[in-house]
Amino acid sequence: MSTAGIIRQQFLDFFSSKGHQIVPSAPIVVKNDPTLLFTNAGMNQFKDYFLGNKKAPFTRVADTQKCLRVSGKHNDLEEVGVDTYHHTMFEMLGNWSFGDYFKTEAIAWSWELLTEVYKLPKDRLYVTVFGGDTKENLPVDEEAKQEWLKWIDADRILLGSKKDNFWEMGDTGPCGPCTEIHVDCRPDNERKLVDGKTLVNNDHPQVIEIWNNVFIQFNRLKDGNLEPLPNKHVDTGMGFERLVRVLQAKTSNYDTDVFSHTIQLIEKITGIPYKATEANPAANKRSEQENIDVAIRVLSDHIRAICFTIADGQLPSNTGAGYVVRRILRRAVRYYYSTLQYKQPLLFQLVPELAAQFVTVFPELKQQESFVEKVIKEEEEAFLRTLDKGLKKIDDLIQNSTNTIEGKAAFELYDTFGFPLDLTKLIAQEKGLSVDEKGFEVEMQAQKDRSRAATTLDTEDWAIVGEETPVKFIGYTDTSVNTHVIKYRKVTAKNKTSYQLVLATTPFYAESGGQVGDTGTLNFDGELIEVTNTKKENDLIIHFTDKLPQNPAAKVFAEIDTHRRLKTTLHHSATHLMHAALRKVLGEHVAQKGSLVNDEYLRFDFSHFSKVSDEELLQVEQIVNEAVRANYPVVIKEMPKDEAIALGAMALFGEKYGDLVRVVVMNPAFSIELCGGTHVASTGEIGLFKIKSEGAVAAGVRRIEAFTGVAAEQFVQQQLEELKQVKAALKQPKELLKAVEQIQQELSAAKKQLEAAENKLLDSERVTLAQKAVTINGIAFIGEQLSVNNPDALKKLAHDLKQDHAQLVAVLVANIGGKAAVAISIDEKTAAEKGLDAGQLIKQVVAPLIKGGGGGQKTLATAGGQNADQLQDVINNIREKI
Ligand code: ALA
Repeated sequence: MSTAGIIRQQFLDFFSSKGHQIVPSAPIVVKNDPTLLFTNAGMNQFKDYFLGNKKAPFTRVADTQKCLRVSGKHNDLEEVGVDTYHHTMFEMLGNWSFGDYFKTEAIAWSWELLTEVYKLPKDRLYVTVFGGDTKENLPVDEEAKQEWLKWIDADRILLGSKKDNFWEMGDTGPCGPCTEIHVDCRPDNERKLVDGKTLVNNDHPQVIEIWNNVFIQFNRLKDGNLEPLPNKHVDTGMGFERLVRVLQAKTSNYDTDVFSHTIQLIEKITGIPYKATEANPAANKRSEQENIDVAIRVLSDHIRAICFTIADGQLPSNTGAGYVVRRILRRAVRYYYSTLQYKQPLLFQLVPELAAQFVTVFPELKQQESFVEKVIKEEEEAFLRTLDKGLKKIDDLIQNSTNTIEGKAAFELYDTFGFPLDLTKLIAQEKGLSVDEKGFEVEMQAQKDRSRAATTLDTEDWAIVGEETPVKFIGYTDTSVNTHVIKYRKVTAKNKTSYQLVLATTPFYAESGGQVGDTGTLNFDGELIEVTNTKKENDLIIHFTDKLPQNPAAKVFAEIDTHRRLKTTLHHSATHLMHAALRKVLGEHVAQKGSLVNDEYLRFDFSHFSKVSDEELLQVEQIVNEAVRANYPVVIKEMPKDEAIALGAMALFGEKYGDLVRVVVMNPAFSIELCGGTHVASTGEIGLFKIKSEGAVAAGVRRIEAFTGVAAEQFVQQQLEELKQVKAALKQPKELLKAVEQIQQELSAAKKQLEAAENKLLDSERVTLAQKAVTINGIAFIGEQLSVNNPDALKKLAHDLKQDHAQLVAVLVANIGGKAAVAISIDEKTAAEKGLDAGQLIKQVVAPLIKGGGGGQKTLATAGGQNADQLQDVINNIREKI
């Protein structure tokens, strides 16, 4: 039986032998594409080749791609773990033709690989072909059918609907008819009884699709229409985990060696055996073992998604892609917490095994193993604390509810504490309560509506003005150019309309690698249009404007704001120097985790496990400024990625690179980085580098903010100016620090003296007050208005009067700056015998009179309020009570 590793390699070798270039997986986290958060299909990274925005460097390509389907159009999350063949993260094996071969070769090769290399029995295979769609005005894919007839009997070729046999990446984008290959893994006796053909595409766990061959011919437009593409392409995807399961003759993906090592580790950690039972999705109740097995499958699946998204640069957070990672992690925690009864962080313990398993396929995990572990562990700890709080909250709710937990409360548990409805229901049920599920749904819908309203982005289709040639970026060398608009479109978000323009040639740098997009102007025959930002969408460079020119087809002179760009450039080059300096001072584990570079400052996030000390920061600053003064020439070269890494370039995981990478060198012994940003010609231009602040952003991630050039100069000037003012205020002492220390000492001595004097004064006041006591029912009563300037003096006096009278009720009031202050003290004996409670008196008698509030204990309580006119009434009322 072949291992998963061999099966993967056989796929790649096969397509290599058919002239395909084998490329690495793109990061699972998507950057520069507003329509996607995560890679959800192997073809995502090739979208521009299909649409003609970019020319493919190879016309035949194959790879294994890390994919995640938990958000957007393709979302399998709820099935994961319950069944045995859906996953959050999965590998998609794929082969592509960019305008090269089409249906004939794609179909012949998929048949050859499955039946001759993998040796799958032909009588277990079925294929589906697009059966046409009248609404879309699309015919049956006769061509694919004819190709299949060369290899397989006609009665094994099934016609499928648009839903199953027309593949689309999202609501818009490249698409086309597809042909799927299904395999029937049932035992022979079952196969004899029921014809496999009838089970294809029917959710049978043993009759499953393994490979999809898409014939990309169209672009789906925003208005729903299909636009034929200039060239025809092939896009295929084979679920690796399913393929391994079929070839290893297992009935569940989790029984293959893709998952078995992780599962064994979970068994070892929890002491709970996995028995591979499968829950019947139709049954309402699962057995205890079924629940356990679902939970173990969930953990072994989710840890992969969590590890690879973090390794590709996406930390768990509260928004966007980070929130998706957090949700997956929390789903896993809930399963081990409530089903496996494991109450400490578990997931992080699974990282080393996974890193070792994928070391040759996706080495990025091994290279960041301890960082990924640390992030996961801290995230687990935080959520376990939340879960604990949530459980207490449920206890409260249960105590205060009679029959049902309200929908609103259940929703708060879900939203704030991450409790899914079924967990709340379960706990409530144990206590004989039910949950208002309808009310929960209402709240849930309301929240969905709110977030939709906040994020809706309405993008119109492109209006084409000029010929659609690949966009040329000249901004590394030029700041202006004469050019023309290729296309533009209107975008509406939150009721605000803006426009996006694509130019044939542009000096505008599009936001990426942390560097902000350029701003500037477009001059259309004298009509000036301001560019407010520049961003990338795949390989298009998009200029944002608030209005359209009268004639978008006119010639345009495009010019960037050079001042802003220069300041930004200084910050970007300084970021490289700082990155290198941090590695020298803190160690080689420092890796970039995020970066922002603009005209005002630079912000750099990096992996490091403790606070960077002041001394270390000083060293970093010194090293960077030395490098600035050394005035290293900045040498920028393009080269293949491997060559760059061999040279010692710091590779940034999660960045997507073409075949040639741009290498920025500032003294080969100091800093070599892969980078697409703009840089100074030599480091001396940076002028001055100054760190502003250092702090934590997330588990194991620190952030430094710093300035360069004029911004640094201004920062230093500001600090010096403040220092000058302080010196002046202190009458120009010779040694500033000593002078400040002396003042502090004097101040604290003076405070102590003052306190002692005040206490003495209060003491004598107390003696006078004590004599004013009147006896009511055997109790000494003191009710007095005093003139003090702080409520604490009242409280202290009221308390201390107990020294003078064994049985006492004291009510001391004061008008402090027009506001009422009250203190009541009662000795313990009186409180107990007479049932008097100072706290209650404050709430019931005092608070309404002084229009305020307060509280305290039975024997001592205070209040403050807006109304100081009825202080005498306060005294009288309490006196009457006694
Ligand atoms: N892009 C196709 C899919 O994801 C192959 O199924």
